[in-house]
Amino acid sequence: MGKIIVGNWKMNVGPLAQVRDWARAISLPSAVEVVLSPSTPFLSTVSAAVEGTNVKVSAQDCSSQPEGAFTGDVSASMLKDVGVSYVIIGHSERRQGHGETSDDVRKKAAQAIKAGLIPIICIGESEQERTQGKAMDVVRKQVMESIPDEATKGKILLAYEPVWAIGSGKTPSADDIRQMHGHILSVAAQRTGLAPERISVLYGGSVKADNAAGIMAVPGVAGVLVGGASLKLEEFNSILRAA
Ligand code: 13P
Repeated sequence: MGKIIVGNWKMNVGPLAQVRDWARAISLPSAVEVVLSPSTPFLSTVSAAVEGTNVKVSAQDCSSQPEGAFTGDVSASMLKDVGVSYVIIGHSERRQGHGETSDDVRKKAAQAIKAGLIPIICIGESEQERTQGKAMDVVRKQVMESIPDEATKGKILLAYEPVWAIGSGKTPSADDIRQMHGHILSVAAQRTGLAPERISVLYGGSVKADNAAGIMAVPGVAGVLVGGASLKLEEFNSILRAA
């Protein structure tokens, strides 16, 4: 299977005209699954801009509820309706900045699957947890608690994003990535009963043009979730070529 490259634009790309230009400027190696994740108001614009190409669109969050009186929330089926295929769930910026727990993440991922979206379930340890030697345990717990029962039927997509690597320019060694991805694959297989080949684990955290090829060559890395470098078109395109 080709690598999956997700550009997580976070709350960085706008106004509308820029969003449209950027979505159209992504150049595409065909064996690669390219996913762009703009802010919620721009999802339909990006869907329209990439129509007819093999670029897919991801939301950055969805509600844990199917519908109802939840002011400010956006349901997974609304996202599906405007051409979204993926949704990032449980990013550390949501877990830390918005108090989301693995319980919330599991409920959101369940809604995503029911609506026909592919959730990208994010997990990863903090710097303190790593220095205290707790990274494996923390990630095991997040994987066990964040994957919904609904994910046990088809395929599952997880993203390992060590919190200390996000936006810091620091990345784990290739050996650490290999070890953690192997761990996540085995815990997710245990949680879901799925064969490991049905589980994909992306790496995220300070992926750049100059380290992308090396990271993607690590066994168990199905692709990358890119933040800052997805905001530089030339650099993002060169990550796509590396894939
Ligand atoms: P950076 O690539 O900026 O480190 O961000 C990673 C990330 O959070 C992607 O979701």
